[in-house]
Amino acid sequence: MGFFDNMRKPKGKLGKIQLKSMNKEHTPVSLWGLKHLDISPDDVILDIGCGGGINVNRMAQKAKKVYGVDYSLESVNLSLEVNKDLIDKGIVEIHEGNVASLPYDDNSFDIVTAFETVYFWPDIEKSFAEVKRVLKPGGKFLIGMESNGSDNLSMRFFERFIDMTVYNDKEITTFLENNDYKDITVYLRDGKNKQEIIKTPNGEKRVRDEYDKVSFSDKFLEWMTVVAVK
Ligand SMILES: C[S@@+](CC[C@H](N)C(=O)[O-])C[C@H]1O[C@@H](n2cnc3c(N)ncnc32)[C@H](O)[C@@H]1O
Repeated sequence: MGFFDNMRKPKGKLGKIQLKSMNKEHTPVSLWGLKHLDISPDDVILDIGCGGGINVNRMAQKAKKVYGVDYSLESVNLSLEVNKDLIDKGIVEIHEGNVASLPYDDNSFDIVTAFETVYFWPDIEKSFAEVKRVLKPGGKFLIGMESNGSDNLSMRFFERFIDMTVYNDKEITTFLENNDYKDITVYLRDGKNKQEIIKTPNGEKRVRDEYDKVSFSDKFLEWMTVVAVK
């Protein structure tokens, strides 16, 4: 299993090293994404494609319970390690599973998150339907990506070597609309102008965005977060 395959499904020692690195490298984009979610103490959350488990850990500081699911055993194992204390307290559970057929009952979660993972999902519209199945009515689905389409050089490079698809905000919105999600809001970071572009069905606006926890490589990427309601 090589470096690029490990982005899609981490495996072995190299997979574990890459997962640890992703826990660190994805921190800025994940924290920026989480800014767009109000987590309340009663919320039960599912993080799909949880990878090294750091976002599960972050959200568990605010929520009632957080589940992490991933189809890579290496990701499941590191998530178990990273969240050991919270698992012992009954606040976190980690499971092996594929987004194509999630191992959870209908209407189970207040929030479902997906950070840096939808690029790899099989039949994305069906996957979004599966997310909707496990969300409670009125529950929120947050998608976090460090790109808006594959126009930038870095994403074009990755798409060449990894079996992945980099969607833009219009495509993600269409997949959500086709599954009857409501109140779809797209947040795009315009770092150069310290602004955020917010797109809703009612139009587009720009707001000040002082978020500055950006690493060197993030300067070349466009961040996008999409939140939709079941
Ligand atoms: C690039 S990593 C991102 C990990 C983490 N969410 C983060 O932001 O650092 C992608 C993760 O999604 C998982 N993944 C990809 N396709 C999946 C699927 N169909 N079902 C469940 N997990 C999946 C991979 O195993 C991997 O752990």
